[in-house]
Amino acid sequence: MSLRHGRETVAIPGPSIMPERVLAAFRMAMPNIYDGELLDVSEELFDRLKPIAKTEGHLFVTIGNGHSAWEMTTSNVFNAGDTVLVLESGRFATVWGETVLLSGVKVDTVSGSDRAPVDAAAVHDKLASMPADHYAAVLMVHVDTATSVRNDVAAIRAAMDAAGSSALLMVDCIASMGCDEYRMDDWGVDVTIAASQKGLMTPPGLGYVWASERAVERGRGNDRRNSYFDWDKRINAELIYQNYSGTPPVSHIFAAREALRMIEEEGGIEAVWARHAVLADAVRAAVRAWSTPDGIDLQVCDPGAYGNCVTTVRTGSIDALELARRCEDGAGVTIGKGLMDPPSMFRIGHMGHTNPPTILGTLGTIEAALHAMGAPIGGSGVAAAADVIGAAL
Ligand SMILES: Cc1ncc(COP(=O)(O)O)c(C=O)c1O
Repeated sequence: MSLRHGRETVAIPGPSIMPERVLAAFRMAMPNIYDGELLDVSEELFDRLKPIAKTEGHLFVTIGNGHSAWEMTTSNVFNAGDTVLVLESGRFATVWGETVLLSGVKVDTVSGSDRAPVDAAAVHDKLASMPADHYAAVLMVHVDTATSVRNDVAAIRAAMDAAGSSALLMVDCIASMGCDEYRMDDWGVDVTIAASQKGLMTPPGLGYVWASERAVERGRGNDRRNSYFDWDKRINAELIYQNYSGTPPVSHIFAAREALRMIEEEGGIEAVWARHAVLADAVRAAVRAWSTPDGIDLQVCDPGAYGNCVTTVRTGSIDALELARRCEDGAGVTIGKGLMDPPSMFRIGHMGHTNPPTILGTLGTIEAALHAMGAPIGGSGVAAAADVIGAAL
């Protein structure tokens, strides 16, 4: 029997649930793209996005997904023959490194674990073993969406400084932006990358790149700059047309502005981080309550490395694909498949427009499906999550 015929819930780690207000802003007639309201809305978008990443640096908006933001960065900063150091952590740092490699940049790695954050001491030792200018940049992911491990950006910056490295620090916050605390300038980050479709509550289609003056300066005169992504062209834009290297993505601009207004109405990004922390704690409490020695368990071992945007769950001998199928087909809740080991892993996205009903509804559905499968679980995850949420009400 299927009970899914009501309002469905998407609990994958992006794209996330989109607010009705954002979707309504999307659906509008096309305005003049050279004068009038669009210019103000675009300016407001740029103004509102900088405090989200806690930076006073430059901001560039790409028309594309997170990959387009990676490409923009590569094209502006790296020369062919440069070497970057990729801090492996789960899936996405490695994939980023692969895209950079295709551009003729050499890639070196510090290998990491799927269950723990990048080891800052290992990064220090690697950098210290090389001349200070050996690496053009260090590439890391803040929260890896496959593992839900949150890496300590400030610790990596400290390791780079202690090793005397002149590399730029580049951080992929595609999963974490708008969910997990992030302070680009305080943490000494040169390039921060995000996209619209997760914590920033706007349908897929915009990539965001925040860049320090140092990063912009480093890229000037590079031999493989690409006109479409060129930062200087955008910095010196006289028309909004040049800010986007062509026709602006009008509907996305209005929608993203609406999402950022919602963040301000909530009390600013700090309030949004606090909401995510409570909801993520509730999810983790549920997983702990379900856990058994050979069954369900949290992927991340160290509580200091939990990401508040997504939780990766190991299921041991419980068939995670069957669990996902029952949740989706039977109840209209889509959970994320495990990227590294789909039959024995799943992910719960808790990013952006989420609150107790969406989280408890998701957890309750998972628990019901676990019961339906006769899966061995320790106790009620819903009760544990309700306790966490109740303590915050
Ligand atoms: C951490 C991280 N980096 C990069 C990407 C790639 O982003 P996109 O799929 O928008 O190109 C994702 C997508 O989920 C991600 O979670």
